[in-house]
Amino acid sequence: MDWVLYGAYGYTGRLILQEALRQGIPPLLAGRNPRALQALAQETGLPYQVASLEDPEALDGLLQGHRLVLHAAGPFELTMPPMVAACLRQGVHYLDITGEIPVFEALARRDEEARRHGVLLLPGVGLDVVPSDALAAHLKSLLPSATHLRLILCSIRAGISRGTLRTMVLNLHRPSAIRREGRIVEVHPGDAVLNIRVGNRIRRVYRVRWGDVSTAYYTTGIPNIEVFMCVPRFAARLFALWKAIHPLLRQNWIRHLLAAAVRWLPPGPNEHQRRTGRVYFEGHAWDATGRRVCARLETPEGYTLTARAAVAAVREVLARAGEVAGFQTPGRLLGPSWVLSLEGVQGFSSCSTGFPVLTSS
Ligand SMILES: NC(=O)c1ccc[n+]([C@@H]2O[C@H](COP(=O)([O-])OP(=O)(O)OC[C@H]3O[C@@H](n4cnc5c(N)ncnc54)[C@H](OP(=O)(O)O)[C@@H]3O)[C@@H](O)[C@H]2O)c1
Repeated sequence: MDWVLYGAYGYTGRLILQEALRQGIPPLLAGRNPRALQALAQETGLPYQVASLEDPEALDGLLQGHRLVLHAAGPFELTMPPMVAACLRQGVHYLDITGEIPVFEALARRDEEARRHGVLLLPGVGLDVVPSDALAAHLKSLLPSATHLRLILCSIRAGISRGTLRTMVLNLHRPSAIRREGRIVEVHPGDAVLNIRVGNRIRRVYRVRWGDVSTAYYTTGIPNIEVFMCVPRFAARLFALWKAIHPLLRQNWIRHLLAAAVRWLPPGPNEHQRRTGRVYFEGHAWDATGRRVCARLETPEGYTLTARAAVAAVREVLARAGEVAGFQTPGRLLGPSWVLSLEGVQGFSSCSTGFPVLTSS
């Protein structure tokens, strides 16, 4: 067992575990709930170890002797700091599946420290941000002088897990974000809207707060970045009402109440959704002279892709464990075309024909 899967019994943790078993790289199962871990260990025949994130000694004991931890227990703004501290103490590589901008930014600031410890910090090895980060790196290779990057994503037949929804609800008070001249700037959620063609339908995509606003900058150096996304109708309504309800959303207890209510929802997309869902990405980059490039990428459903990408990233890091250290993004560490090796991923296609086509702005 070279690696530890923390949060192994969560919805996404279980998908990652299934994929790891399919690929023949079983992890040590870990998390904070002894009963859930014991049940999972019985089901899979794998060993497990209980460790609370609030117990540094237990975390040290968990990581000792391993080369890597894949952290699947979010919200990562809360769960990342103790795990990273333990990784640095124990010289163990850290990977996670966050999409949270503050987490990427906090880890980027620890680059030097991680290098000194010979530890790799590689957040975002799920849907957010593996494909879009690869697309960003690809666009940069097509247009090295790019100054602006626009990424668009649209999930078809998508569902959402309780854990993802809980993370989003806890962040509802935060405005949206873009990167302008290298700095992350807050903007009103959904303040800009585009129409894109997906298949034979025109869909509206809204400018959102998304991990690439942080990561694509470290991958490409492009100083102006924005991300647009297809969102459900209730989210579009929330964007319209955001200014009016912001004072309420700033109340911790209201967000925590909403987050607690999430537990009554199904754990995540069902098997049919995971098998048939697709995610479409389109990226545009342009430079100061007006030269533009565009490319597309298509992936399996978000949680299926997350499991495949996370396990593939674990394999890559285990293979070069002695050569990597410091803060990295998936696109920078693994290169733009690595994503194409993941099962079910198609790209990069050009944007002159086919879909989705950006039709207005
Ligand atoms: N970037 C991406 O593309 C992507 C994709 C999928 C998921 N995610 C993120 O991954 C996270 C998990 O999602 P999920 O769908 O698997 O959610 P989930 O089913 O609710 O599972 C969450 C897991 O995290 C554990 N956990 C939460 N807080 C903890 C803490 N303080 N200490 C120890 N363990 C803790 C939970 O354990 P308990 O049951 O003991 O609380 C559970 O094992 C979310 O933040 C989600 O946004 C990101």
